[in-house]
Amino acid sequence: MRTMRLPFSGDGWIAQLVEQRIENPCVPGSIPGLATIFPPPGFTTFPMVDSPKTISLPGLEDGRKADEPCTIVIFGASGDLTARKLIPALYHLHLEGQMPASFRVVGFARREKTDESWRAEMRAGVETYSRTRQVDDARWDAFAANLSYHRGDLTDADAYAGLAKRLADFGDPGLVNNLVFYLAISPSLFGEVVDQLHVADLLHRMEEDDEHWQRVVVEKPFGHDLQSAHVLNNHLLRHVRERQIFRIDHYLGKETVQNIMMFRFSNAIFEQLWNREAIEHVQITVSEDIGVGGRGGYFEEAGTLRDMMQNHLLQILSLVAMEPPPSLAAEDIRNEKVKLLKSIRPMTPEAVATNVVRGQYFAGTVNDDSREGYRQEERVNPESNVETFVALKLFIDNWRWSGVPFYLRTGKNLPLRASEVRVQFRPTPNVLFAAQGHLDIHANALTLRLQPDEGIFLRFNGKVPGNSIETRPVRMHFDYDAEFGAYTPEAYERLLLEAMAGDATLFIRRDEVETAWQIIDDIRAGWGGTPLSNREFYAAGTWGPVAADDLIKQDSHKWHNPKPSKR
Ligand code: BG6
Repeated sequence: MRTMRLPFSGDGWIAQLVEQRIENPCVPGSIPGLATIFPPPGFTTFPMVDSPKTISLPGLEDGRKADEPCTIVIFGASGDLTARKLIPALYHLHLEGQMPASFRVVGFARREKTDESWRAEMRAGVETYSRTRQVDDARWDAFAANLSYHRGDLTDADAYAGLAKRLADFGDPGLVNNLVFYLAISPSLFGEVVDQLHVADLLHRMEEDDEHWQRVVVEKPFGHDLQSAHVLNNHLLRHVRERQIFRIDHYLGKETVQNIMMFRFSNAIFEQLWNREAIEHVQITVSEDIGVGGRGGYFEEAGTLRDMMQNHLLQILSLVAMEPPPSLAAEDIRNEKVKLLKSIRPMTPEAVATNVVRGQYFAGTVNDDSREGYRQEERVNPESNVETFVALKLFIDNWRWSGVPFYLRTGKNLPLRASEVRVQFRPTPNVLFAAQGHLDIHANALTLRLQPDEGIFLRFNGKVPGNSIETRPVRMHFDYDAEFGAYTPEAYERLLLEAMAGDATLFIRRDEVETAWQIIDDIRAGWGGTPLSNREFYAAGTWGPVAADDLIKQDSHKWHNPKPSKR
């Protein structure tokens, strides 16, 4: 069965998957995130290509795999991220046959541990936090045989010399020389670690034709403003080239976030309408039902603007609003995203005063669970003015979006956890049905539900059956689970796989991170360190401060709050 030839070319991961699928369309399985390449008629959930039941492990079936032997060195091996995300992701990649035939994982941290004790901790991490939880002894043992622990202080040159020796002992040139250094550590130490790796002869600026490679994967936060990001970039670039740096934004590893681009550029009917002529405004909501928990110390330094808006929301925005790239090559896609970020109208202090709202939660109840106020959280200043919520309106000054407001909001301790993009279309002209005052004519809206209950909804009007002319908004619904089964790979699986494969599509480029910081710096400058006003506080468990409602009301719109999860 030959489905359809896509006008795609390029060398990024998306292009490779599309090509494999076209060359071998009978292979069961789906291309992760390509839900709309084989679109069902309408938005029903009929499987068009394969039964969803066959789609349990797409990675295996579509053959996406890191081929070259390599070693991943995780700095911060005793931290939370390693146990909760990195090792579970690597374990799943291993189960799905996506790891290279030969690989090693070395955990680097200061605490005293043996290989065995670290492996046991990592197994407990997989059992507690991974998406499958259950661990099969034989499969775990096969995986864990590749794990070892290296004790050392990040500032101690001897520890790096020891690491070099440990790597050399692996013998296989691929394991010794193809190296992923994963920096799951405090950003203040990123520079130190790359310096030390360079001195230990483990990290070099690579040439195109080098036989082996070294890559540095950098966790967020990447700096705390433009200046610090700039300094950090310059520091890293002393020892590596830009193409060796993989800056993480884990939202880009989410299937549904990847699907934004697929959805837009593989469906003629939506992309035709994706502009100022048809769209009235766009809302992007990332709400969380948790507070800052034990991260009060970090949050006091970061705040929601830096923690969420600078990265996750601006990334979603750039995928929703960017122009089609000339190809699916990583650089082409990233060029378009940067172009989009650069087209955002600068946030002058006047614009910040009218278009940006911050908030902070006080004590309240989320899902029957009582929550303390932010100021009462551990390691938070009892008079803190740090924001746990941000809502803003921005404009993109380009041909496609001129005059269309984009409303973005995110916050902690909101009523539920959900991320959505809602595209609100313009209403029909006020004639015919709309002119009949009593009829309930709603403008069309398209909602991309990114998490949980991943899916896409289109709202339109339908006639209520009967003799009278009565309309009612109804929804067409594409549900990931119903279509593709319950397979939801963790973002880190995709990201680690791409880092090993050397594909930077899902990582943030230098100019991208710096442009995003410029936007955030302008907003912070507009706030100018002024304390929060009464209208900027909200009770935990509500949808943010009243000032956020006023922000959108001033344009005669209202926030559309995500619905609770069905599961
Ligand atoms: C992280 C932020 O980047 O993203 C956290 O630092 C936030 O504060 C988290 O809770 C949200 O991620 P997700 O995948 O749960 O939506």
